[in-house]
Amino acid sequence: MRDVEWTPEARELADLELLLSGAFAPLTGFLGHDDLHAVAERGTLADGTPWPAPVTLHLPEEAAPGDEVTLLDPEGVPLAVLTVTERGHDGLAAGPVRGLGAAEHGPFARLRRTPAEVRELLGDRPALVVTMRGPLDDPALTEVSAVAKELDAVVVLLPLSYGEPGPAVVRAALKAKDRLPEATLVVSVPLAPREEPELDLELREHVATAYGAAEHLAGPEPVSIPGPPHRRGLVVFFTGLSGSGKSTIARGLRDALLELGTRTVTHLDGDVVRALLSKGLTFSKADRDLNIRRIGFVATEAARHGGLAICAPIAPYAATRAEVREMVESVGADFLLIHVATPLEECERRDRKGLYAKARAGLIPEFTGVSDPYEEPDDADLVIDTTHISIEAAVSQVLGALRSGGWVR
Ligand code: ADX
Repeated sequence: MRDVEWTPEARELADLELLLSGAFAPLTGFLGHDDLHAVAERGTLADGTPWPAPVTLHLPEEAAPGDEVTLLDPEGVPLAVLTVTERGHDGLAAGPVRGLGAAEHGPFARLRRTPAEVRELLGDRPALVVTMRGPLDDPALTEVSAVAKELDAVVVLLPLSYGEPGPAVVRAALKAKDRLPEATLVVSVPLAPREEPELDLELREHVATAYGAAEHLAGPEPVSIPGPPHRRGLVVFFTGLSGSGKSTIARGLRDALLELGTRTVTHLDGDVVRALLSKGLTFSKADRDLNIRRIGFVATEAARHGGLAICAPIAPYAATRAEVREMVESVGADFLLIHVATPLEECERRDRKGLYAKARAGLIPEFTGVSDPYEEPDDADLVIDTTHISIEAAVSQVLGALRSGGWVR
């Protein structure tokens, strides 16, 4: 038996919480092969119990059946122990989970209730459970009131508070409560949405039933209004070889934006980042990836609240650039990849820092373009080769792209 610790992904942690709270009853753990197969084929568990959607845990750590794995939250707090009953070839781990009674935290933690607690509060009054992923509009509120009256039921609003819109949907539920009967309950439930809408709806039914629903209404799907681009967060991410001109263009772009004065600008230059935020990191693949993830993290935080971040590292690996794009887009901000595609020969001919000469002489190992890879992007939103154009011209190309996308006016 090994002692393994593992921090699951956010959506797996959400599922874990529902497994522990009983909201996923009769499930008591993550599903294994037979159950997953039955769920996909027939919408039941292997034993025939209806269950609509996969509930899985990806566990890359070494763990074999019989091992206990402590599941941690991202801050390292132990949440539960998984007793592994099965390992899949795909890195999935199945088995029952036992909660460790860690205190709930996060926004609106006080609005968490287990199904048992809610059923206890309800006593023998019937419940009209409304699962919400967005605000209840007027027609929905009218319907909820009417159905509640007809059934003489207590309204239980379950804002499905998973992920980025989480706090907003809980606020929407509290607002809706003010327009519904006095006894209305609001309980925040971290149910991560499933890809297929029908499965998502069926899973919402299951959760509603666990919370004692005599009747379940699914609130309207949120219409996501991302806001106009000039108010949306934006990450302008330059990638290219050392000496390609990306830092200079990035600096020019920063200055131009500051002169316009319509957006707040965060500038994360490659060399500057390496002097502090990523100080001590080498140029190995692992360290370069970590460097780019750090830049992506900071840029995402700036863009989360509508800021504009400019990043200019080499970022030689496509998968890591894609990770940053995803991070940024997951908070509702936009990501613009600009490939400064000045060819190696030209970068080397300029050799402004003398690094290429050193790299060729073998004095700098793993030098991008010389003895280390650079994966050309195939998803760049703009490609600029500075061989024959001035910095000013390159900067105006970028500004032009920002203007035509509506990000600056
Ligand atoms: S990245 O690969 O992690 O994205 P980053 O942009 O932070 O690289 O740093 C690149 C800068 O570090 C280059 O402009 C250059 O000045 C310097 N440098 C030092 N060693 C290397 C190396 N082995 N490969 C590339 N750049 C290097």
